[in-house]
Amino acid sequence: MRLAILSDIHSNLEALRATLAAIATRSVDRLVCLGDIVGYNTSADECVDLLREFDPVCVAGNHDRATTGQITTEGFSHTAARAIAWTRARVSADSLRFMAGLPLKASVDDQLVIVHGALHPDVGCELVRLDTDERRQLSFHALRAHPSGARICAFGHTHHLGVFELREGVMRSLTGDEIVLRDDAYYLINPGTVGQPRTADLRATYLVLDTARRVLTAHHVGYVAEVAFAKTRRAGLLPRSSYVPAAIRNPLKRGVRACGAYDFLKRTGW
Ligand SMILES: [Fe+2]
Repeated sequence: MRLAILSDIHSNLEALRATLAAIATRSVDRLVCLGDIVGYNTSADECVDLLREFDPVCVAGNHDRATTGQITTEGFSHTAARAIAWTRARVSADSLRFMAGLPLKASVDDQLVIVHGALHPDVGCELVRLDTDERRQLSFHALRAHPSGARICAFGHTHHLGVFELREGVMRSLTGDEIVLRDDAYYLINPGTVGQPRTADLRATYLVLDTARRVLTAHHVGYVAEVAFAKTRRAGLLPRSSYVPAAIRNPLKRGVRACGAYDFLKRTGW
């Protein structure tokens, strides 16, 4: 079975359309979505409707659950919380019903387990970011004990493409656009983000997992990001830092992080 795995669409219709068009050329059997369909950008209903046309296996992300009111926006950045309030005031009852019905964890043919954030906590797993070795170890531990017997867990939430392997007790990060998965190892795989890039590379990303051949491929999709982000800007949903040119913004962010003031700036909308 060939599975196309995508995550963190974040109401970016232009990115989702381009990604689904690219996936359509790759003879995929099933679409898998790791949540955060909405948030940050403006096309919530359009993204939910388009995604549903493909009947994906889908889990809920923290932005989906905050929009439906299943969790609060406590701990969200100012920019993220503002977009949740904006979306909640406009999204259709049908989209809300769909998102509210999404599970937090699911498995696909006992071969793949899917979550938005992490596999390991029983409560609040959609909020946990697998961005440290310690947390990845905890999710690997949960994967090894998973009743499905699956050896691969797909997660999103960090918005960063990544593949992590656990074999003979050793964990390592794998790179490359085509990876052959071993039978004797466990994997945590992250397709990155369709619609809310957090690097200078604005392209959407997704993974294709061929469960029979045990091959994982990473794909990048270019689209006209300016169209999506112009709508976001007009709605007043971009962070203030986006008005600073990237050449200045990125070193500035690194400096602020080094000073330990980054979380404060995020909370206040920068
Ligand atoms: Fe996200």
